[in-house]
Formats: sequence, structure tokens, C-alpha cells
Amino acid sequence: MATATTTPGIPELIAEGQTTEEGFLRRIFVRDQMAEWSKHPLIMAKADGVFYWDVQGKRYLDGISGIYVASVGHNNRRVIEAIKNQLDVLAFSPPMHGTNPLAVQLANLLAELAPGDLSTVKFQCGGAEVVEAAIKLARQYHRLTGSPGRYKVVSRYQSWHGSTLGALSASGLKSRKTVNEPMAPGFVHVFPPTCYRCPFGKSYPDCGITCATIVGDVIDMEDPDTVAAVIVEPIGHTGGVIDPPDEYLPLLREVCNRHGILLIFDEIITGIGRTGQMFAAETFDVTPDVLLVAKGISGGYAPLSAMICRESIADAFWGPIEENPGFVEGHTFEGNPISCAAGLAVLREILERDLLANARAQGERLRRRLDELAAKYPVIGDVRGRGLFHAVEFVRDRATRERFPAAEALGLRVGRRALDHGLLCRFDPHWIALGPPLIVNAEQVDEMTAILDRSLGEVLGS
Ligand SMILES: Cc1ncc(COP(=O)(O)O)c(C=O)c1O
Repeated sequence: MATATTTPGIPELIAEGQTTEEGFLRRIFVRDQMAEWSKHPLIMAKADGVFYWDVQGKRYLDGISGIYVASVGHNNRRVIEAIKNQLDVLAFSPPMHGTNPLAVQLANLLAELAPGDLSTVKFQCGGAEVVEAAIKLARQYHRLTGSPGRYKVVSRYQSWHGSTLGALSASGLKSRKTVNEPMAPGFVHVFPPTCYRCPFGKSYPDCGITCATIVGDVIDMEDPDTVAAVIVEPIGHTGGVIDPPDEYLPLLREVCNRHGILLIFDEIITGIGRTGQMFAAETFDVTPDVLLVAKGISGGYAPLSAMICRESIADAFWGPIEENPGFVEGHTFEGNPISCAAGLAVLREILERDLLANARAQGERLRRRLDELAAKYPVIGDVRGRGLFHAVEFVRDRATRERFPAAEALGLRVGRRALDHGLLCRFDPHWIALGPPLIVNAEQVDEMTAILDRSLGEVLGS
């Protein structure tokens, strides 16, 4: 076996065609379809601000914040220094026995920033872990408050809440679920508020917001006394940035209030400034019972996520040991001091540099630029989103909203062409999304949309 000193660099190995069959990239599972990926492997070597460089030295504009993670950009010195300093002081503390000062500080800062009485925090390492925590919190809360029969979770088709079995069971993507079936029992799915392709064949605003009212009907049919929680992303990502009509989330809030059901917002993408406010709950002016953040909270510098719940819910877990086990949920690395140091530094950076204002201003610019592209290309059927979280959906016929056949997959072709031209965006057969870091400037927004313009023009012309 070659030693580290004799091992050729990754670029040389790629050049030698070592990427397929028996090559060295066979030693890693990637998120993508591996055989396909290995034909054009993307391996990032370094990053700075809103740019990445791959191992071959090619530069990419990061139009997607890694994957909605790099909130304060790459190579942020303040966050890096905070982590380095914390490493010298305390790298790990045992969650079985307590916590650490950084976790307490971060919990208090989140409680200050979160809307309403969302004030008690459980830290974890990733998105799926806090989704699991929220589901368990809802079930245990109802047990502790005299409704042990409430266990069902209502969630949406086309949603994504993570890869662990509970989060996957709540998710609504058949492409990621079917291979892992059977899912956990107790999850009920409803259709999402996809106005552009209304699942009920209606048109906004004369639709009665059926996508929301039907959630109440489904809960009635299931028996409200069996339902613990409703979990939604305020703006769904998978499905192509599903930005709901303004009435939708307030109506869900009403339904949950009516039946004593907990409303959980999965803000793993939309939280920490992405919509132009710290939380999408503020953008839509609806306070959930439980709010989940991950991705942007540590900006990608360390694994961190947080479940923030209302004080009245947390109170149910506070009682004498003989009657109350506390919140039965935990992982070894929860509230890790390094991750919390990163989280504190990221939040301070956002607050002190007023990156929320920048997200609003650049978000408006991004929207304008995408609207201009839609005016130029009839294949763009819809532009939607809020703040620095937008998508365009492609259609073959704007009037009928007919999609391109799967084989043509315009979104994939444009997304790949954009990658060739040095832009990272999220692409799907029928849509492309952009979600740049909150530090993005006007020139970079213009460059991102100019690359999309060029890529679209080339693909349509080919
Ligand atoms: C909305 C949403 N929820 C949950 C998750 C799961 O997060 P993680 O991949 O950190 O487990 C994701 C990940 O993409 C997500 O987009």
C-alpha cells in the first residue's frame, strides 16, 4: 500500500482515470449516484467568502451556501478564531452529566432571538437529529400532560426532514423513501401548498386555501386525540422552493390550536436569516410550538442543530424525579462546546454586520434578476421564494404549465452547464434553486444570474 508521502495528489489520480471501476473513488459513498458522479467528480479543496475551489483549482461561485449552510460565508475569520480559542479551553464535555458554558450562552441567545416564548433549547449535531428530537418531544409532552394516546405526526408529501428513520418517515419524497421501506408507523401525509401546481386543481386566491383547511379535515378523520404534531418546512425546498400563500401557515396554526396539536417548523433551511428575517416564522408572522434550526446556525464550521420549544412545553418536562423523567432524548455530541462556539460566533456575525438586512436587499435583487430571466425565457414558468432562497421552475408550455419530458430534464442540463461555468446551484429535472451566503453582494448576485442566463441560452440553443 502506498504511504501518504508517495500517494499522488487527487488531481493526478483523476487525470489518470482513477475515478471509476477499481479507482480510488470507489472507496467512498457519496450522496449522489456514485457511478454517474465518478465520471465528473466534484471534490472541493478550499473555500473563501462566496467561492469554492475544487482540487483541480477551478473556481465556483457558491450559489447555494454549500447546501444552505455557509450563512456567513467561507473562511470567516471570526468563527474560525472562536473555534480555535475554544479548542484550547474545552473541546468536549459529557452531556450525560451536564452541559458547558458555551451551550448555555447559545441557548440563551437563541431564546432571545426566537419569536414569542420559544425559549428552551435542545442542541444536536444535524438536521435529522433535531427532527427526531421534536417528534419525541411532542409525543412525550402529550404523555406528560395527560394525552398518552397522541402519537401521530402529520407532515407533507414532497417534504424533506432528513435521513434517519423517523425524519425519513415524516418526509414525503418517494425517491428517497421507497428503497428504505417500510417506514415507521404513525406518520400521515398531506399535500403541500404547491400553488403553481395546485393538488386540488384550484387557483389562488379563489381556492379557499384548501391545502391548509384539508389538514384540519385529515386530523378530524384520523381522530385529533391520536395526533401529536404537525411538522412543515415554512418554505418547502424539495419540490422546488414551495413558498406558501400568506394564509397557509396562519391557518395551520389555527388548526393546531383548535386540536391541541403541536406545530413544528422545520427551519433547517429557512432559519438563520435565509428569508431575510432570523426565522421564517417571523417572515410569515406565525409562531410555532417548536422551531428547528441546523445548517446555517454554525455556518458549516462544526456540526450543530437546535430544537427551540415554547416555555409552556418545556415546563411539562420540569418536575420531581419520581413523576417526571425529563426529556428522554440525547446524543453523545449534543451541545458540543466547539459547535456552540461556532454557533455563537455565527449569530454575532449576523447580528453585528446586520446580514439580515443584506439578505433582504440581495434577496430582492436576486428576485429581480430571476424575474428578468423569466421575461427573457418562456421556459421559465414560475419564479418563487423569499429572501436569499429562490427557485425557477421550467415548463415546456407556459400556458398549460406542461413539464419537459423526463428525458429532456432541462433543470439538470442547465444546472450542469452552470457548474461548467463555475456556478454551484441546486438543480432538479424541473427546477433550479439559489441560496447564496448572507454575505453575498450585488455584483456576485449579478454574476450568478448571468451564469444562469448564459447556461440556459446555451442549453436551449444546443
Ligand atoms: C428542511 C430540511 N430538514 C431536515 C434536513 C436534514 O438535515 P441533515 O442533513 O443535517 O440531517 C434537511 C437537509 O437537507 C432539510 O433540508
